[in-house]
Amino acid sequence: MHVLGIETSCDETGLALYDSDRGLLAHALHSQIALHATYGGVVPELASRDHVRKVLPLLDQVLAEAGLTRRDVDAVAYTAGPGLVGALLVGAAIGRSLAWAWDVPALAVHHMEGHLLAPLLEPDPPPFPFVALLVSGGHTQLVRVDGVGRYTLLGESLDDAAGEAFDKTAKLLGLGYPGGPELARLAEQGDPQRFRFPRPMTDRPGLDFSFSGLKTFALTTLQDEGMVARADIARAFEDAVVDTLVIKCRRALRHTGLERLVVAGGVSANRRLREGLSAMAEAEGGRAYYPRPAFCTDNGAMIAFAGAQRLSLGQHDPGPGFTARPRWPLAELPALREEGTA
Ligand code: KG4
Ligand code: ZN
Repeated sequence: MHVLGIETSCDETGLALYDSDRGLLAHALHSQIALHATYGGVVPELASRDHVRKVLPLLDQVLAEAGLTRRDVDAVAYTAGPGLVGALLVGAAIGRSLAWAWDVPALAVHHMEGHLLAPLLEPDPPPFPFVALLVSGGHTQLVRVDGVGRYTLLGESLDDAAGEAFDKTAKLLGLGYPGGPELARLAEQGDPQRFRFPRPMTDRPGLDFSFSGLKTFALTTLQDEGMVARADIARAFEDAVVDTLVIKCRRALRHTGLERLVVAGGVSANRRLREGLSAMAEAEGGRAYYPRPAFCTDNGAMIAFAGAQRLSLGQHDPGPGFTARPRWPLAELPALREEGTA
């Protein structure tokens, strides 16, 4: 089965073709970073318009790369949420129109399920069950994963997501958008001993997070010390986020009795976080799994893959109507017939 994946939930247009026998055949990504950089963040209307421009050219690109024609596509999976409503509607409308025109099934995919399953695209994928840490611009969640579609939320951020905290703190430090990678680069030059930021909510039980206080901590430190201290502030901030995530992931592994940790979403590209989580998981007698860096942030491959899994487990979303769900709790995903992978 050849499944086309379309991702348009935010500021990247991603398309991919996944073959349930041969694996990933092709993927293509157009990033809107340059488009939004002048504004210091994503402008939703510009994002939607750019997705409209890019989806079909990228479709031709992935078909050519895979050596397929439109007639070879057996199903179309598109991100139906969560995300920016206008941006989601572009992928949903094009995805469902293509599926209707080609007379193949269309599948509404949850963006965070895409992230969560992305490490399964790698060689030596983690077997179920595992604990997943989802760290993106919009979400920070710990999830127990017993199979495709079998998710139990263990904890989540009560305020800012980790990526959002990176982006907001980067802005305070005068860095461009998206701030996460830039802040991580600046932190490389920072002195880890100079400031110590708190590790929020680690001194009480539970698996929830709170990152908005760290941004305030960065702001007050910046006001006291001035811009000359920005690299040291970046380092203190990054260390605090990484440490907090490591502590909570260790707690989640112990709480569930599981030994495999899957880490996905944009912030999982962070080198220090990967090192910290891998060391912790190994010390606990387990292992951490990540997507390749290109599939940590938004991409079409994870949507094609999640769509292929759901198709093989019997999901079928009858048309022709469709919706996009800007807010869509993972727990509300449609139930599936059985556990397994395609
Ligand atoms: O998963 P993603 O591409 O989009 C969402 O679904 O939100 O995640 C984007 C987020 C942004 O907040 C970005 O700053 C952050 O991931 N990010 C990073 C790094 N690379 C991306 N944060 C810290 N360090 C990085 N290397
Ligand atoms: Zn994402």
